[in-house]
Amino acid sequence: MLNYGSYLKVPELLELQQLESDPPAHDELLFITIHQAYELWFKQIIFELDSVARCMRDDDPYEAVRLLERVLKIEELLVSQIHILETMTPRDFLSFRSALSPASGFQSVQFREVEFLSGLRSGGEVMKNMQMHASERERLQRRLNEPSLRHLFYEMLQRQGYDVVIPPEDSPADLATRQQIFAGLMDVYQYPEKHYHTYNLCEALVSHDQNILLWRFHHVRVVERIIGTKRGTGGSSGVNYLSSTLSKRMFPLLWEIRGELNDEALYGTQRGHTEFPTPE
Ligand code: HEM
Repeated sequence: MLNYGSYLKVPELLELQQLESDPPAHDELLFITIHQAYELWFKQIIFELDSVARCMRDDDPYEAVRLLERVLKIEELLVSQIHILETMTPRDFLSFRSALSPASGFQSVQFREVEFLSGLRSGGEVMKNMQMHASERERLQRRLNEPSLRHLFYEMLQRQGYDVVIPPEDSPADLATRQQIFAGLMDVYQYPEKHYHTYNLCEALVSHDQNILLWRFHHVRVVERIIGTKRGTGGSSGVNYLSSTLSKRMFPLLWEIRGELNDEALYGTQRGHTEFPTPE
């Protein structure tokens, strides 16, 4: 008869934390557990983002937002979870670090799937440097061949009558594309109440982008705290490489559009500037 353990495959799950260090280093169990927990949540995020993609194809922004809200909650958990590693001293990590080399989070196929699926497609470059099995490479290549959420989002907007163009998948949008998108979405940002579902979807996508960025930021700070300026086990320069990823944006134009809003157009009057007090 089914019970808790057999339904959830708990005995099998508890067999999956196999230490590489010998003699066993105390903190390696934590290191494995936290990565496995991340991978399980990545699986759930990918599952939900695939459903968000379907909602966009079906012109259903309401359901897309509902599912994205679940993704956002999971991501908030993932951002705070990284700090558990701050309880590991640099010395504790060094006691087993060489045993796991050359494995690295850089090779997380599911993390790349989240990036590719959402619209971060500098993927060709990343894939060249990733060590992975043929089946994993195929899986990532499939993701690169599919339209991203960003592409599906702009396609849906076009069907809904917004006068936007679809930005390219793997290069930054040129000036004409950016201007067309700003013009096509300006009313949404000037009058969110008139475009309730579209506005909520835009902002849920920005929040997804922001959560991944926050994760990157907290991850690199934890990495700096633990290994300082050492190179990564995956072969990168470490903290310097990770800091360079902080400028990545999945929906750059949705971030930029708020800088295009004009308060004169909104209120028809130039509002006064606040004078900040001079510090004493
Ligand atoms: C002691 C803790 C950790 C250290 C010292 C560390 C270190 C690093 C370093 C140095 C890199 C750059 C690639 C390389 O050369 O290896 C990296 C990348 C990465 N790590 Fe970690 N990491 C830690 C924990 C984690 C955890 C818990 C996760 C959760 C999944 C994770 C996921 C990733 C991902 C996804 C990348 C690729 C980021 C990108 O290329 O944008 N790391 N990590």
